Amino acid sequence: MSDAPQFANVAALDQLSVGTLLGVTLPTGAAVCLYNHRGTIGAVGDVCTHAAFLMSDGVLHADGTLECVWHGARFDCRTGAVRRHPASAPLPVYPVRIEDGRVLVGVTPEERPPAPVPS
Ligand code: FES
Repeated sequence: MSDAPQFANVAALDQLSVGTLLGVTLPTGAAVCLYNHRGTIGAVGDVCTHAAFLMSDGVLHADGTLECVWHGARFDCRTGAVRRHPASAPLPVYPVRIEDGRVLVGVTPEERPPAPVPS
């Protein structure tokens, strides 16, 4: 039995053109928001930490912030860190691999130190 992280095959790479978001569900039941920021594919939790709106229904800005369109919270898509209130807790960030034109997402979020919240 390997300790290597488990990855789930969740989407085709061509479903994620530059600047788009895509909501997917992992085998664990976790909702994940895939993004394509300037050609880099990544994955964060799809549930806004403010009041649970879906981040994949939000907007990915050119500066790499992901905006929840319910109350306007913003998160750094690369780190999950809060960039604008009213959210105060970061989004989880999931590891991503691209293989054979498919997007694979790790079923366990990355461990990250707590990020400071803007005042
Ligand atoms: S639910 Fe996202 S900002 Fe309120």
